[in-house]
Amino acid sequence: MPSPSGQALSAQNSAAEQSRTPDTRVVIGMIGLGTVGSGVFKIFRDHPDIFFQKIAVRDASKIRNIDDVDTELLSQDPFAVVRDPETQVVVELMGGAELARELVTEALNHGKHVVTANKELIAKFGPELFDLARKNNVRLLFEGAVAGGIPIIMPLKLSLGANRIQRVAGILNGTTNYILTKMTQEGWTFERALSEAQAKGFAEADPTNDVEGFDVAYKISVLALIAFKQVVDPLSIFREGITRITAEDIQHARELGYVIKLIGLAQMEDDGRLDIRVHPMLVPNEHPLSNTQNEFNAIFVKGDAVGDVMFYGRGAGEMPTASAVAADILAIATGLLKGNEPIPSMIIDPATPANLLPMSETTSKYYLRLNAQDRPKVVGHLGNACGDAGVSLEALMQKGINPDGTASIVLLTKSVTEQQMNQALESIRGQASTAEIGCLLRVL
Ligand code: NDP
Ligand code: HSE
Repeated sequence: MPSPSGQALSAQNSAAEQSRTPDTRVVIGMIGLGTVGSGVFKIFRDHPDIFFQKIAVRDASKIRNIDDVDTELLSQDPFAVVRDPETQVVVELMGGAELARELVTEALNHGKHVVTANKELIAKFGPELFDLARKNNVRLLFEGAVAGGIPIIMPLKLSLGANRIQRVAGILNGTTNYILTKMTQEGWTFERALSEAQAKGFAEADPTNDVEGFDVAYKISVLALIAFKQVVDPLSIFREGITRITAEDIQHARELGYVIKLIGLAQMEDDGRLDIRVHPMLVPNEHPLSNTQNEFNAIFVKGDAVGDVMFYGRGAGEMPTASAVAADILAIATGLLKGNEPIPSMIIDPATPANLLPMSETTSKYYLRLNAQDRPKVVGHLGNACGDAGVSLEALMQKGINPDGTASIVLLTKSVTEQQMNQALESIRGQASTAEIGCLLRVL
């Protein structure tokens, strides 16, 4: 076991060091001391088994919200941290895909175990990195990458391992759930809610990843890898974010008995094709997901033996995510401290490329808001456009007159294919009485 030497230590790390000999602790090189990295540091600064050798940051002179980090512990050279011969476990909490891929590759090739919370990295490069970990006989763990503090990766792989998984679906992004909750319950604007979510450390460095659904696409792709052993390019996943949703849609949904949530969904069809997508949905008030508020996430898993299982908890934020990352570190540390026994944690099996169900073949009920001229026969024309496409209506409501004199109309359809709905939509768009198509949403 390597012995740490020459490093500057925090007061707590020094205290821990005094009580341990070098061969009874595990040496960590961490990349990133932002929201999640700070949480991991706080969890382990008093821990006798875990020793921080170096922590890479972009700007070592930055004022940080942890008062006891010795600046000499910090480095601006992440490759030096990864290559340090003393380091046994590299913890990547920097984010982004390309540089993280290089660093993690370097770490695995240097025989280091890796822990990361980087869903983009795992979604884009997981299979090649798992392969590298296997070849180098080290572990690559990533519990924090999906749904923050909720244990989902390990339970899906191990605890539900006897099941053929049929469906994984849920609220997988804390930032957007926080925004939608505040818009629904407090009447906040989108901008105010996003800015608060950023201040609380929930959002990605570029929050476009959250609000346009990229983050959920990465996470559902990772879940599909574990649940179905299928590789899905996250960029091939049908994806819509929440930026088109207005206070008006939230209000109409409420009157109809729904709340709007951003949902990530992956389900296996009987013919072996994978239906995987990310978009906002109207969730019925009586569905358990409707009560998932603020930064909380919830995931439904359906297995052939177990039936439905639901996982619920904080999906973003400093300490909840650090909880998941720290558990991975401890899983590895426990193996190392017991003398390099096989670590009692998972290995990701080789996966095959997924055969995706085209979006046009997916089925759903739909909510459509549009503005139309306020004159006779308009409702009849809408009904005809839907009827001609084989789309039956469950509800059609005029919701008032807009300042420009058009009528705001809301339709709720019965369950139809996306292709049928698109056909009806094109026909409605082409009608002279249609002023504007507002928002089209699917119903859970
Ligand atoms: P932050 O932006 O808060 O922190 C990023 C850290 O990485 C900072 O300390 C930054 O340094 C450092 N860094 C960035 N670029 C470099 C570089 N080139 N070299 C060295 N260090 C660098 O991100 P988060 O902590 O929020 O997220 C980290 C990872 O965890 C991401 O992959 C994210 O998706 C994931 N995650 C985040 C969650 C959350 O709730 N925030 C939840 C689950 C996963 P400096 O401090 O000097 O700027
Ligand atoms: N930005 C992400 C979210 C962090 O809001 O869910 C957790 O992965």
